[in-house]
Amino acid sequence: MRVLTGVKPTHIPHLGNYLGAIKPAIQLAQSAKESFLFIADYHSLTTIQKGSELRDFTYQVAATWIACGVDPNKTIIYRQSDVPELFELAWILANQTPKGLMNRAHAYKAKVQENEETKKDDLDFGVSMGLFAYPVLMSADILLFNADVVPVGEDQVQHIEIARDIAQKFNRTYDEVFKLPRAHIQAKTLVPGLDGRKMSKSYGNHIPLFQDSKAMRKLVMKIVTDSLPPEAPKDPETSNIFQLYKQFATKEQISELEALYGKGIGWGVAKEHLFNVLDAYFARSRDKFNTLMSDTKVLEDALLRGAERARVIAQPLMKQVRTLVRGL
Ligand code: ADP
Ligand code: TRP
Repeated sequence: MRVLTGVKPTHIPHLGNYLGAIKPAIQLAQSAKESFLFIADYHSLTTIQKGSELRDFTYQVAATWIACGVDPNKTIIYRQSDVPELFELAWILANQTPKGLMNRAHAYKAKVQENEETKKDDLDFGVSMGLFAYPVLMSADILLFNADVVPVGEDQVQHIEIARDIAQKFNRTYDEVFKLPRAHIQAKTLVPGLDGRKMSKSYGNHIPLFQDSKAMRKLVMKIVTDSLPPEAPKDPETSNIFQLYKQFATKEQISELEALYGKGIGWGVAKEHLFNVLDAYFARSRDKFNTLMSDTKVLEDALLRGAERARVIAQPLMKQVRTLVRGL
């Protein structure tokens, strides 16, 4: 079984990304016989158009994976833009993609809806061809490696369906070249942010994974709570602090804090518990992350080595596609 997934480098990874995407992808990569984990840097071009930012976010994602336990000798990790075959395949696939299929893709539809709501004359206002054709490139990412399983968040399932449609269309037009990939939907639990809404970079309510203890503590202390007095019993199920705590604490720690909630606990004390488990959980990986980020040459070499391995695997399939398409 071949597992493949990509992450868009658009910001520094936070706890929501970690629990919702990074950790499940790492677990799956570690359990699969063959795994591919790549940084979809050219997908980020829809929003990140400053080279130095793209570079830094790319290194941060790579350093996060390695710091969290991905072994680059086992899992093939690479940067999308280092695999030129992907872009050649994307163009070929674009010619097997009905425009109507792209009209229905959710990111594009959301943009059109936003333009309708803000009463723009041009409903395609702010839509680049990169955004519009995003699912075609994503299909190339998956199909070039004949991936069986693609772990993704729920929002990406539509893109996997699109990849299947495009693969079928190519197979009908030319020959049975591509396998049909299957989405593996990752954890449905949404990690709450500091203000209780979904943790997201765009809401500014996120807790970055790797920051020094002091900064982490300061952020944890900012988690919004209700105004119940310390002695009042509290419901762990509706407490953001507890919901985050649960993800990082041991079973014993969880039952201890649960008992304290039942008896009544001050929010400041609950936050202290949360900070302590977070700080301990990330202590080792934080050191590793910082070491990797202090000498990005090591990361760069790992990514380039990964891209070489990926290309060796991709090239025979690309050759077959080229031969079919050109009739040579
Ligand atoms: P952001 O909302 O901060 O911009 P992204 O959209 O870049 O995050 O998300 C990248 C990945 O992280 C996606 O797979 C998404 O499902 C996951 N993710 C992001 N925020 C959360 C969250 N609060 N809870 C669970 N998963 C999340
Ligand atoms: N579109 C995905 C996201 O926004 C990232 C991605 C790009 C991807 N190419 C992929 C995920 C191929 C899985 C497979 O999260």
